[in-house]
Amino acid sequence: MKGIILAGGAGSRLHPMTVAVSKQLMPVYDKPLIYYPLTTLMLAGIREILIITTPRDQPVFQALLGDGSQWGLKLSFIAQDEPRGLADAYRLGADFVDAGPSALILGDNIFYGDGAGRVFAEAGRSLTAERGAMVFAYRVADPRRYGVVELDVAGRPLSIEEKPAFPRSPWAVTGLYFYDGQAPEIAAGLRPSARGELEITDLNRAYMEQGRLGVERLGRGFAWLDTGTPDSLLDAAAFVRTLEQRQGFKIACPEEVAWHMGWIDAAALQALAESFGAADYGAYLRGVLAAG
Ligand code: DAU
Repeated sequence: MKGIILAGGAGSRLHPMTVAVSKQLMPVYDKPLIYYPLTTLMLAGIREILIITTPRDQPVFQALLGDGSQWGLKLSFIAQDEPRGLADAYRLGADFVDAGPSALILGDNIFYGDGAGRVFAEAGRSLTAERGAMVFAYRVADPRRYGVVELDVAGRPLSIEEKPAFPRSPWAVTGLYFYDGQAPEIAAGLRPSARGELEITDLNRAYMEQGRLGVERLGRGFAWLDTGTPDSLLDAAAFVRTLEQRQGFKIACPEEVAWHMGWIDAAALQALAESFGAADYGAYLRGVLAAG
């Protein structure tokens, strides 16, 4: 299973913060935002990842993430010259996925919950000929800001709409999607929506109309946060800070996840820890190593 992180877009709701710097590089407490979706893919067992950015920001993402080998990953980069919509990821990423299964995650989505990696890895494994796509539904107070899915009593999708004025359910579709190898082909046939974007909701609806869209509800024990506005960015940072300070564990630390997954050895983790010098982050990694 390969992964794609969509980290382009204008970030206009965060202006002026994002006039010169990509939204997905904004800090969420103690780490850049992109570490959160990156580690979500890692926890799902995904090591080969394409990062889609604006042409302007690509060198900065490369400076931050390198080729991923320091974390046992294989990262590649591609630029999206204009924000044509989320489904554009499968036009740009067609050669990368090479007709195989993949996960797409939005670069501004934060997932947190006990066993999240297991849930997402299982969703990836659940793709079959009968189920070509898997998405996650999360109950929100104001669904009008999201893709919204309506489910029948058995949890099967009945309708899926992008930012409906009158939502048919409180279930938002989160920004993590698993698709079989047909996603590029279906995306190639999509037309821009009224707002001029290739909508991921239209891709999901195509799978639904074939009877091949699975939807899993994430329960109350999960946190799904978005970071598109100054308030939601600050709320996400406060959430991360609260949990990290209370437990002494970091959320979304790629070095720790790589170690936990067995993708890097003790010497590599030690070297990464040392590279942070006197920063608290390095001390944390030394603690992870000492704990074994
Ligand atoms: O967060 C979940 C929601 O994400 C879903 O419920 C919606 O169905 C989905 O359309 C999307 O809605 P948003 O309005 O939040 O999407 P936004 O335009 O903010 O884009 C999400 C991320 O993708 C953002 O980090 C920027 C990036 N992006 C966006 C576009 C349109 C790109 O990299 N390229 C693009 O062309």
